[in-house]
Amino acid sequence: MHTVELAPGWVWLVGAGPGDPGLLTLHALSALEQADVVVHDALVDTRILDMVKPGVELINVGKRGWKCSPKQSDICDLLVDLAKQNKRVVRLKGGDPFVFGRGGEEAQALVQNEVPFRVVPGITAGIGGLAYAGIPLTTRETNDSVVFITGHDQTGGMSTRVKWEELARTVPVLVIYMPMKSLGRIAEKMIAGGRSPSESCAIVSRASTPHQRVLVTTLERAAADAAESDLPAPSLFVVGPNVDYRCWTNWYPGNRSPRLSPLTANTAE
Ligand SMILES: C[S@@+](CC[C@H](N)C(=O)[O-])C[C@H]1O[C@@H](n2cnc3c(N)ncnc32)[C@H](O)[C@@H]1O
Repeated sequence: MHTVELAPGWVWLVGAGPGDPGLLTLHALSALEQADVVVHDALVDTRILDMVKPGVELINVGKRGWKCSPKQSDICDLLVDLAKQNKRVVRLKGGDPFVFGRGGEEAQALVQNEVPFRVVPGITAGIGGLAYAGIPLTTRETNDSVVFITGHDQTGGMSTRVKWEELARTVPVLVIYMPMKSLGRIAEKMIAGGRSPSESCAIVSRASTPHQRVLVTTLERAAADAAESDLPAPSLFVVGPNVDYRCWTNWYPGNRSPRLSPLTANTAE
């Protein structure tokens, strides 16, 4: 395996992917093998944490929505502290560290404190999770563009910087992270922006884990169907014609519905 040394006093910001350990990169795997300490989020799959060698310190700094535990500044301080103790530090994050993952803020803190670091990109949920849900992010038939949006910002509410209706008008496929608190409002904004109330959309819960569930519904029914299905976090919301393509591309055995079956709206698997 091509191994880059994780030297003492360094911090690697490593993406763990959406869940399935098979989606780790070789650099991520090598980081886990070399680490003295792994500082991880709640989102990191336990099967990946189980890969860490015995004796390696595991520190969970997971945030749970807005009932959050450690402050971001405390996490940054912790990383700097551990590096200054000359440890080989892996900061392990779900998905990709630089996609709605605060990796940028942590890298900034490391630079400000003269701690050397490396970034190991991971497969972000909006790409890997969608693939496991059997939904192609793009097809030539359905979309030439896609946006990744966060359903809430630092205030815990829907971001006022996101022009929802404009995006609804101009972008065929929208993949929304952290959507659940505002699902109904997001769907309303999509419809207000001109999308058909009967347009297909999907909620993908715990993608690429053994507990993956996919709810295919329509914009007008999304909030009610989601409430009824009680899908566990974390979840993604995807809106667009590519969701209908799933009747061809639903490959994942855990999805349970037969391959190449016709799309049935309002189904949770
Ligand atoms: C704080 S963001 C972190 C995103 C992460 N850095 C990434 O690149 O995937 C957390 C959100 O990512 C999405 N997410 C992460 N893992 C997921 C998974 N396995 N299944 C569905 N959504 C997931 C959910 O929308 C969740 O609320």
